[in-house]
Amino acid sequence: MLRSKIAGIGHYVPDWVVSNDDLTKVMDTSDEWIQERTGIRERRYGARHQESTSSMGVAAAKIAMENAGVGPEDIDFVIFATLSPDYYFPGCGVLVQRALKMRDVGALDVRNQCSGFIYGLSVGDQFIRSGMYKNILLIGAEFHSMGLDFSTRGRNVTVIFGDGAGAVVLQPTEDENEGVLSTHLHSDGEYAEKLAFINPGSHGGYHLGTDRFGYEDLEFGGVFLTPKMWEEQDLFPNMEGQAVFKIAVQKFPEVIMEALEANGYGISDLDMLIPHQANLRISQFVQKRLQLRDDQVFNNIQKYGNTTAASVPIALCEAWQEGKVKKGDLVCLAAFGSGFTWGSALLRW
Ligand code: UT7
Repeated sequence: MLRSKIAGIGHYVPDWVVSNDDLTKVMDTSDEWIQERTGIRERRYGARHQESTSSMGVAAAKIAMENAGVGPEDIDFVIFATLSPDYYFPGCGVLVQRALKMRDVGALDVRNQCSGFIYGLSVGDQFIRSGMYKNILLIGAEFHSMGLDFSTRGRNVTVIFGDGAGAVVLQPTEDENEGVLSTHLHSDGEYAEKLAFINPGSHGGYHLGTDRFGYEDLEFGGVFLTPKMWEEQDLFPNMEGQAVFKIAVQKFPEVIMEALEANGYGISDLDMLIPHQANLRISQFVQKRLQLRDDQVFNNIQKYGNTTAASVPIALCEAWQEGKVKKGDLVCLAAFGSGFTWGSALLRW
C-alpha cells in the first residue's frame, strides 16, 4: 500500500535569544512566573526587516530538502502552515515557490494554528497516497514576535510565543515498516474566540457585537481596521488561558489514543510522543495521564517557547538529531490549539 514517509527534515530558529528577564524590561512579568506556569526559559525572535515567516520557512525547507536529497526542481507541491503569514494574502506558499525558484507547482496555505503542521501532514499524506505527488514540501513557520502586545496587558499571551520554522519533504513509500500510518483531525468552533487574533479582520463585529470596535460610524467603506481598534490597541491575539488549558489536557490524550488504537497499538508500543509545545505543564499532564516514561516524550519549549505551527517539526527534527527518534521507531505527533483544532499522526520513522 502506498503511503507517505518523511524523507527529509530540517528546522531553523533565528539567532536572537530573548530570555524571560529580557521581557521583564518591557512588561510586568517575572522569570519565576513564566517558568513555573509554562516551563519556558527563553525564546527566539526573528530579525526585524531582515527575516519573515516565509524566509524562516525557506531556511528550514533548504535543510529538509538537502536531507531528503532533493532540490527545489523536484518538489511538486508546497504546503505552508502558519498563523503569522508575511501578508494577509497571498499566503506564504507562493513566497516559498518564488524564493526557491521552483516550477509553477501548487502552493497551499493551511490556517490551523497549533495543529497546522498535523493538518498539513494529513493533506500531504492523502496527495501521496492517491499517487498525485511524489515530493511534497511541508513547512510550519511563525514570526509571532511581530504581532504581539509587549505591554503588560498582553503578558499572558506574549511571554509564551516564539519564532521559528520546521519543514519536511514527504515522499511515497511502499515499505510497510516506514511512513505515516494514519492521521486524525478534529475541530470545535464553539471555542473560536477563546484563542484568537480578531482584528484587523472582515468580521465587522458580526460574532461579537459592533460597539466594541466602532463600526457604527463606518456604514460605507473599508472597515477592516477601525480607528477605535487602533486607538484602543485592540489589535493583538487574545487567549483565555485557563479555558484553553482545560480542553487541551482532555483532547491531547484522546487524540493520541485514537492514533494508537486505529493502528492496533497501545501506550507501551510508543517509542516517542512529540506533542505540540504549548506549555510544559500541558505536556507533563499528558505524560502523567497516559503513564508515559520520560524517554517517551520530547519537549523543547524551554528553549523556544510556543512556535505554533512550527513547534511539532522543530521538536521532531531536534529529537531525530539527538538520536531520540531512530529508524523503525513508532512516533506519535499530536497538537491542540486555536479553533479549537486538534489532531495526531502516527508514523513509523
Ligand atoms: O498553543 C496554543 C494553545 N495554548 C495553550 O495551550 C495555552 C494554555 N494555557 C496556559 O498555558 C496557561 O493558562 C497560561 C500559561 C497562559 C496562564 O497560566 P495560568 O496559570 O492559567 O494563569 P492565569 O491566566 O489564570 O493568570 C494567573 C495570574 C493572573 O493574575 P491575578 O488575576 O491572579 O492577579 C494574571 O494576570 O497571573 C497573571 N499573569 C501573569 N503574571 C506575570 C498572567 N500572565 C502573566 C505573566 N507574568 N506573563
